Amino acid sequence: MKYQSIKGFRDIFGSYAENFTFIENTARKIFGKYNYREIKTPSVELSELFLRSIGETTDIVEKELYVFEDKGKRKVALRPEGTAGVVRAYIENNLSQKYPVRNFFYIGQMFRQERPQAGRFREFSQIGCEYFGNTSVYADIEIILIAREIIKNCINGNINIEINSIGCEKCRPALVNSVRNILKKEFSSVCEDCKKRTEKNPLRALDCKTDGKKFSDIKFVLCGTCSGEFEKLKTGLKNAGIEFAVSGKLVRGLDYYTKTVFEITSDALGSQNAVCAGGRYDNLVADLGGEPTPAVGFAIGTDRLAEIIGKSPGGKTDGRPPVFVAAFGNDKTLDYGFGILRELRDADIASAGGYFEKSLKSQMRIANALGSKYVLIIGDEETEKNIVVLRDMAAKSQKELPPAKLIELIK
Ligand code: HAM
Repeated sequence: MKYQSIKGFRDIFGSYAENFTFIENTARKIFGKYNYREIKTPSVELSELFLRSIGETTDIVEKELYVFEDKGKRKVALRPEGTAGVVRAYIENNLSQKYPVRNFFYIGQMFRQERPQAGRFREFSQIGCEYFGNTSVYADIEIILIAREIIKNCINGNINIEINSIGCEKCRPALVNSVRNILKKEFSSVCEDCKKRTEKNPLRALDCKTDGKKFSDIKFVLCGTCSGEFEKLKTGLKNAGIEFAVSGKLVRGLDYYTKTVFEITSDALGSQNAVCAGGRYDNLVADLGGEPTPAVGFAIGTDRLAEIIGKSPGGKTDGRPPVFVAAFGNDKTLDYGFGILRELRDADIASAGGYFEKSLKSQMRIANALGSKYVLIIGDEETEKNIVVLRDMAAKSQKELPPAKLIELIK
């Protein structure tokens, strides 16, 4: 084969592609209910936007960004996530003045040059939302409720919600320092990544696969405001009937977070088991040049949810097995058959067929492969009588009907 898709990129088709559509439709419905409006931002932005927001020393920016120079000699990058672009769009388009409630959701492709493995792709899809202008912990709770509702409406099986607070600019320096001190003490034995993190970004060492265990006893001491808010968050989640666990080591791989961070994992996945992650980022809008505006958001990894649906036989999908129209005989019969196929579709009944050049036997074979519950068999005799034969494939029974009755019955 001369051309193949490149490493980490893949074709998505069949029921796996339908799972994506199902997840996206479910998310749109739920976002609508919560009064979130859609926003679409470009896939390419100035690379500096990602450096400034996600952080220069993060894996995403340091190792995974697809950066290139465009014809205007601008350094641009494929977006690795959605938040930075939405914040830029929020400031640039003055959205705070245009909308009384500033809740936005997005669905789109993201790109990270990661080492491909199960559940980790170089092009993947996220469904995310960003909620601007609300400092209240109820905004954090709302965000977690939405993420959970979308996920639970898409997959069966257990999910786990982990939360943490990484504090504000008042208390975070102390947290950073206590991690840095441990790293300095253990410097000779920590991995190369953690050596670099010691000065630049010590908190990331907490979720390091090699050295994370060195911090099992670490205690985050939050300032009065942050600890009070974190208590309110926990109470609010409990009152909303949400099960969660507090994980003191959850810090997230992006630098813009403040206070609340959370992650939702699924038992149905392997090592890349996070299906959603998010948190509060109260300084990012101001850091990127906007009016100081608190914000909170999340992103769900659609590929991973689609994978879970694909794995579970009880998974929910949109795929309605089509009614199959099998016509055979003279030209008048084929026209009649095709007319019926059109009528079914006009009546919004999922239907397939039109392989009228094949024998009835071959057409029945296709209907079987499609999992069709009903097949309409139309020969010259049925055409003359203006009827169809409706075959129930499971019951192996059939009856004759006029087309008008048929649509009523199938609907
Ligand atoms: P993130 O944790 O980098 O956060 O990504 C969110 C989710 O995207 C992950 O939990 C995972 O399901 C999915 N994901 C990430 N990388 C890959 C990959 N290489 N292949 C497949 N799926 C992947 C963010 O992106 C933040 N922007 C979330 C956010 C929004 N925080 C506030 N607002």
